[in-house]
Amino acid sequence: MTTTLIQGGLIVTSQGEAHGDLLVADGRIALVGGGLDEAADTVIHAEGCYVLPGAVDPHTHLEMPFGGTTTIDDFTSGTVAAACGGTTTIVDFCLQEPGQALGEALVRWREKAHRCPPAVDVGFHLGIVDLDLDGALDELARLPQEGVPSLKLFMAYKGALMVDDETMVRAMRVAGANGGLAMVHAENGGAIAVLIEEALGRGETEPRYHATTRPPATEAEATGRAIELAALVDCPLYVVHVSCEEALAEVDAGRAAGHQVWAETCPQYLFTTAEDLARPGFEGGKYVFTPPPRTPADQEALWGALAGGRLDAVTSDHCPFRWADQKTLGEDDFSKIPNGGPGIEERLALLHHFGVGAGRFSLPRLVELVSTGPARMFGLHPRKGTIAPGADADLVVFDPARRHTISAATHHSRVDYSLYEGFEVVGAVRDVLLRGNPIVRDGEPVEGPPGGELLSRAPFGSSLPIRDGGAA
Ligand code: URP
Ligand code: ZN
Ligand code: ZN
Repeated sequence: MTTTLIQGGLIVTSQGEAHGDLLVADGRIALVGGGLDEAADTVIHAEGCYVLPGAVDPHTHLEMPFGGTTTIDDFTSGTVAAACGGTTTIVDFCLQEPGQALGEALVRWREKAHRCPPAVDVGFHLGIVDLDLDGALDELARLPQEGVPSLKLFMAYKGALMVDDETMVRAMRVAGANGGLAMVHAENGGAIAVLIEEALGRGETEPRYHATTRPPATEAEATGRAIELAALVDCPLYVVHVSCEEALAEVDAGRAAGHQVWAETCPQYLFTTAEDLARPGFEGGKYVFTPPPRTPADQEALWGALAGGRLDAVTSDHCPFRWADQKTLGEDDFSKIPNGGPGIEERLALLHHFGVGAGRFSLPRLVELVSTGPARMFGLHPRKGTIAPGADADLVVFDPARRHTISAATHHSRVDYSLYEGFEVVGAVRDVLLRGNPIVRDGEPVEGPPGGELLSRAPFGSSLPIRDGGAA
C-alpha cells in the first residue's frame, strides 16, 4: 500500500475550510484531521498553501473536428495543460456524426483517448446530431446506465451540429425518463444564419461582426425555449456557456417557474468583451468563440450570478484553434473562423485571483464552482469534487502567494495564444495528485506515462438535491 501525508495546509471544500492534514492510501483519502503523524511513504508539506479537491472541468473539446479543422490539443496535450491548472477530471464532448450509431461515436472518442493517453481522468458527454436512425432512442435510453448520463444538444451551428426542436424534445423525453441530463448550447441558429448572410452581403467580413450577428436576443430566445421544452417532457437541463444578462434572466425565470435548470459560464465571458473582436491585424480572430464576448455590464452580471448562486459552475469550454493557421481560415470572412477559445489551464488561478482575491466570493464557493458543483451535476460525486475519506485522492496544493503571469509562452496547451496574455495573478497551482499519484510538481508536469482513466459516471441526480424553484 502506497501512502502520502499532506501536512499543514488549509483544507478547503465547498462546505468550509480548516487547517489540517490528510492521509492518502492507495489512491484514496484515508484520513482528514489535525495533527496526523502517521508514517507515510511520502510527506508533502503544505504550510501556507490551500489543499483543494482537484478541479472538474465538464466542458472541453479535445481533438474535435469542427469548423473545417480539428482542435489542436489531443487527450494528452490538453490534459497535461488541465493538470497544470489544477484540473484532475474533464468531461469531454464526444460528437455523433450524421448517420452514426451513438455507441459507435463513443467508441471513436475512446479510441482518441487510447491513442493519446490522458494525464487526468476523463468522462464523455454525447453530442446528439441525428436521432433518425434505427434504435437511436433505445441506445439513448441506455446511456445513463452505461456511464454517460449527459447528452448535448446544439441549437446553433446551422448546417453542422444544430438540431431542430423535434430532435430536442425526443432526446429530452428519453433522457429525462432514464436518468439523463440534457445540456444545451443555447443560441438561435436559424436567426444567426440570417444575420450572418445579411452582414456578409453588406461586406461586413471582419471578426467584430461575429458579435453583431449573434446578439444577446438570440441567446436568450434559445435559452428560454430550451427551458420550456425540457420542462414539457420533464427533463433536467444544464445550459452551457451563459454569456449575458438576458440569458441569465431566462434561467432565473425557468427556476422561478419550478423547472430543473442548472447553468454555467466560462472565464472568457468574465474577462473579454466584444471590443476584443475589433483588435487590429486579425488579432480579433482569437476572440471568435460562441456565444461571443459581450459587454462590461454582462461581465458584472455574471460575476454577481456566480457569487449569488444564479450560476452553478465555471467551466473552460476549451476549444483550441491555433491563430497562425487555423483561425486564419476566416481572415476574409468571420463566419469561416473556427469557433472556440482556449482556457483549460487558467480557470482556477483566474477565479482565485479575480474572484476570491477581489472579494467577490469565498474559497469554498470557488471550490463549489470549479469542482464540487460539476462533480455533483455530472455523476462524479462523492468520488470526485470533495476531500473526504473514501474519495479519490485528486488533490491540489495551491500556493496563494505565488505570482504568475499568464502567457502562451509558458502555458502547456499546444495553442499559440492565450486569451489572458499578460494577466498577472497572485496564487498558483504548486502540486497536483491524481488518485494519490503526483502529476504536477512545483507547477510543472511530472515526467512519466500519463495515468488518467476513462470514467463511468452515475445517472443524473445521484448526488444532487432537486431544485425547489429557488436559486441554488
Ligand atoms: O465557440 C465555442 N464555444 N466552440 C466550442 C463549441 C461550443 O459551442 O461549445
Ligand atoms: Zn457551445
Ligand atoms: Zn463548448
